[in-house]
Amino acid sequence: MLLVLAALAQTPQVIPAPQHFEAGDGAFAIGRAVEVTTTPEDDPELARLARLVAQLLGGATDARGRSGGREVKLRIDPAASSHPEGYRLIVTHDSITVSARTGAGIFYGIQTLAQLVPGDRAGAIPSVSIRDTPRFGYRGMHLDVGRHFFPTEFVKKYIDLIAMYKMNTFHWHLTEDQGWRIEIKRYPRLTEVGAYRAETMVARNFDPYVGDGTPHGGFYTQDEIRDIVAYAAERYVTIIPEIEMPGHALAALASYPEYACTDGPFEVGTIWGVYEDIYCPTEETFAFLEHVLDEVMGLFPGTYIHVGGDEAPKTRWEESAVAQAVIRREGLSDEHELQSYFIQRIERYLTAHGRRLIGWDEILEGGLASQATVMSWRGTDGGIEAARMGHDVIMAPNSDVYFDYYQSVDRTAEPLAIGGYTPLDDVYAFEPIPDELSETDAQYILGAQGQLWTEYIKTEEHAEYMVLPRMVALAEVLWSPKATRDWESFLRRLPNQFRKLDSLGYNYRVPDVEMGLVGRTGRSGQAMEDLLTLENRVTVMMEAPVDGQIRYTTDPSLPTMAWPAYRAPVELRVDTGAVTVYARLILDSGKPGALRSTTFRKATLRPSEAIDASAVIPGLEYEYFEGELTSVNQITDIAPTTRGIATNVAFQGVEREEQFGLAFTGFFRAEEDGIYRFTLTSDDGSRFWLANVFRLDNDGLHGTMSRSGSVALARGFHPIHIRYFQAGGGRSLRLSYQVDGGDERTLSQSLFRQP
Ligand code: ACM
Repeated sequence: MLLVLAALAQTPQVIPAPQHFEAGDGAFAIGRAVEVTTTPEDDPELARLARLVAQLLGGATDARGRSGGREVKLRIDPAASSHPEGYRLIVTHDSITVSARTGAGIFYGIQTLAQLVPGDRAGAIPSVSIRDTPRFGYRGMHLDVGRHFFPTEFVKKYIDLIAMYKMNTFHWHLTEDQGWRIEIKRYPRLTEVGAYRAETMVARNFDPYVGDGTPHGGFYTQDEIRDIVAYAAERYVTIIPEIEMPGHALAALASYPEYACTDGPFEVGTIWGVYEDIYCPTEETFAFLEHVLDEVMGLFPGTYIHVGGDEAPKTRWEESAVAQAVIRREGLSDEHELQSYFIQRIERYLTAHGRRLIGWDEILEGGLASQATVMSWRGTDGGIEAARMGHDVIMAPNSDVYFDYYQSVDRTAEPLAIGGYTPLDDVYAFEPIPDELSETDAQYILGAQGQLWTEYIKTEEHAEYMVLPRMVALAEVLWSPKATRDWESFLRRLPNQFRKLDSLGYNYRVPDVEMGLVGRTGRSGQAMEDLLTLENRVTVMMEAPVDGQIRYTTDPSLPTMAWPAYRAPVELRVDTGAVTVYARLILDSGKPGALRSTTFRKATLRPSEAIDASAVIPGLEYEYFEGELTSVNQITDIAPTTRGIATNVAFQGVEREEQFGLAFTGFFRAEEDGIYRFTLTSDDGSRFWLANVFRLDNDGLHGTMSRSGSVALARGFHPIHIRYFQAGGGRSLRLSYQVDGGDERTLSQSLFRQP
């Protein structure tokens, strides 16, 4: 244990954490002259990397003889690493050596060095010996420029970030319903018409629709794209362009309505979501898409071309004589097979040109194209299925790595986001290889990718806020060995990244202050819920997840710098009313974090029902419903298919895959007087009621999500009711509780019903 702690304490201030490192004696002073040499000597790639090192070290010079023997050596050496992206970095008091099999490896060694250089480029780099290789070969970040256009300078700044964290792939989502962003010479209307929309939806005003009246648009010329491709290549980043088909094609159809199944006219989308107008599978459409792909392949030298494939409603194909004729001609059984035919045909075209197709996991439906790589976004199920079929997989699940999701439960303190909840620690805990996969099948998981969809992201500052520091966490997941992943160590290394990001002009989200009660485990860092007590006073403790100063107040109208600095636990009276404490973490740089608040409330015990223990028997009654549900409330409109006795709030084994509901009724037995904190987790929606005093609302269509809340209960029986529904896709249901901040328990021993 002590050895492990000692090793952790020494982990260099580098993210992703290097695979292997050893601290040495002494340090290499920064800011003094140094000679940069390369082996081989006259290699233009190494010369470029040498210039990078020279910039990094400030005082560097390549003029022999003025360096006082201090040297930086960049060496291509096949023995340095068994992995093409691996490297060795050795820092001593008078030399820095980066060796690798390839330029990419040297580049990653330099990225590590860059993180070891003190922020002010003064001082010294402590001696260290590092051996490092990536865990995954595919380490990606995605950017949607369709919903909002981002200029080339920002795209480059985003690529810099990818490279800085040793990621190697930029997935550039270039076409959308709301904008076509890539110049195609043969089809000029794609950008003349398709790159511009009349306006953009204001916030979430779907119904009634409210537009902002402001035209929005932009596109990248082919010259700009070539420049960006070259820029990325110098940073060992491969760009995967995405040209969406057959759905998310409205901007293209607005430009060329002849490729739709109906006459149009179409307008470039202004509303977020999924449009029914998609490409029609005619010969003319395939010719158009092939011509587009010809130009795309001419611009992007990487192997992969992403063709989307997600969210393509089949309504138009069902109604189209042309589409139905293709189904008959090709002997297909339905529109899903038609989509599969569509993608397979495009795959053959790409393969014939030496490229490989990637698509979102919908390309599994109706049959997977033979060599296709699957990007699993609707959770990891699609990725698991594809890997078992022997297809390469990129894990990009919305449950873990959608960086357009909220970073806090307290949405009021965050910029408007699309929904969801993916805090930094969830990203850090993400494991790209699902447990379900055998070792053989796991080899098909090439890596993972973070997504940034930009429906609600209009500015560069906001885009950076959403990806940082979540992509930093993902970078460590993808590069560093699984066995060394350590959240506390990551948090200790984060402030150094914040300093680097400050100096490079990136915005990022400062982690939240955590608040809790002294003597009680469990904290409110993530949960926006009241903390209850039975006492007249509480002692509130706060914790900063990373270095910085906590300031707190009960009067948020005062300016933050007038709030007291937190030094020790704070005692508050709660017997005269609930007290809300507001807190912010202020980094050493002065950058403030988001406002956190927790309300502390004196609770009175809910008296138990006047029921004798001998009058109840174990278990809950449950009812099972079948139907197409989108809310737990709809359960009351349908008659149950079956009823039974449940020993826990969980699946009962009677359920079909999709479109069903469950309701549980009975009593919860509180063993003692206390504060009971319940956590309800489900995919899709659920609700939990305790008498008429307490409710947890986790309703709605969503992936696995938890809600927690506390209630003060007197010892004895309390009536409870739980409803759940499953619409489609993944499913989960779990209810657990803690008493007075103790361990989390399942309810099974505490559930009772009247006989
Ligand atoms: C997606 O989020 N529609 C891939």
